[in-house]
Amino acid sequence: MTIRITGTGSALPEKIVTNFDLQELVETSDEWIQKRTGIAQRRVSTGETVSALAAEACKRALEMAGKTAAEVDLILVATCSPELLLPCCACQVQDLIGAADAVAFDLNAACSGFLFALNTANAYLQTGIYKNALIVGSEVLSKLVDWKDRGTCILFGDGAGAAFVEASEETCTYENGRRAGMECMVQGSDGAKGRVLSCAERALNSAFYAEDETISPYIQMDGQAVYKFATKQVPACIQQALDKAERTVEDVDWFILHQANVRIIESVAKHLKAEMAKFPMNIHKIGNMSSATIPVLLDECNRNGMIKRGDRIVLSGFGAGLTYGASVLVW
Ligand code: UT7
Repeated sequence: MTIRITGTGSALPEKIVTNFDLQELVETSDEWIQKRTGIAQRRVSTGETVSALAAEACKRALEMAGKTAAEVDLILVATCSPELLLPCCACQVQDLIGAADAVAFDLNAACSGFLFALNTANAYLQTGIYKNALIVGSEVLSKLVDWKDRGTCILFGDGAGAAFVEASEETCTYENGRRAGMECMVQGSDGAKGRVLSCAERALNSAFYAEDETISPYIQMDGQAVYKFATKQVPACIQQALDKAERTVEDVDWFILHQANVRIIESVAKHLKAEMAKFPMNIHKIGNMSSATIPVLLDECNRNGMIKRGDRIVLSGFGAGLTYGASVLVW
């Protein structure tokens, strides 16, 4: 069985918010943000929804794969910022793109969401339950961010990325001897540390009980704790995935990491003793879009021809939960 990503797509809101724009809102500076995070600007929704961005990204991925929406078996949307609690975003996407025969549901693993969705789809495809899947990461985090909190509002952005994954019975071996498909995946969760990055839903308010405390509806983050977790856990789980796949860092062409902070990515590269040139980044122009960062970067690298068939790629994500994971695949 071969599992291949045959199409990628992305969609971003039009509005660009620069660090200079943020200087007008909170006590910060372009210099501080660039130095501490690598971010210069991000996209912010002025009405674009999680489902509309996701649907646009899906259409582009399907177009690249040469497939129609009617052929889609499974739609998995990873999001932590849907515009509706019910129905789920994946069902909205199903309707928006016209994938009438697909099964659709959401998955929330925050910034690891796209990776977890890809691994979930892989399991469905490997067992022959479905033949293909649209995997999406889509977020409008701007509505979850407290624009008065300089510790978080400088980091996040809005956007969506999608990948179309197909299974085929035949194995596909490239000229370099590598076989296409998923070689290994490692996933982990540490719920005991979940409080360091959280965002509350509505307070309990029913006919029988009402919470009297006012719950902040915004993202709360202990940035340093998340930073420490990421710089320790990400290289460890990438190494674990490579060991499991019986590969080394040198066998990897590209490391597509969750774009949370340039310093985190540099630290991961250092821990792995891998060249920085193998870590493409786009965080400077779009910030941290949680579940959307990996598929948007993947789409960018795919469309600009950087990633080629036969390349070995490590995808790795981490975020609220806390969740983390790494997958090794041959493109
Ligand atoms: O997808 C996962 C999502 N989350 C993350 O990936 C977050 C991971 N953590 C980080 O990226 C970093 O911790 C941050 C970028 C959030 C913060 O950077 P830091 O280097 O850890 O800064 P810090 O929190 O240690 O703060 C250092 C100083 C403090 O001032 P004092 O106490 O030294 O006077 C902060 O008050 O920087 C101050 N500060 C700022 N100054 C200007 C914090 N935020 C800002 C800001 N502009 N936006």
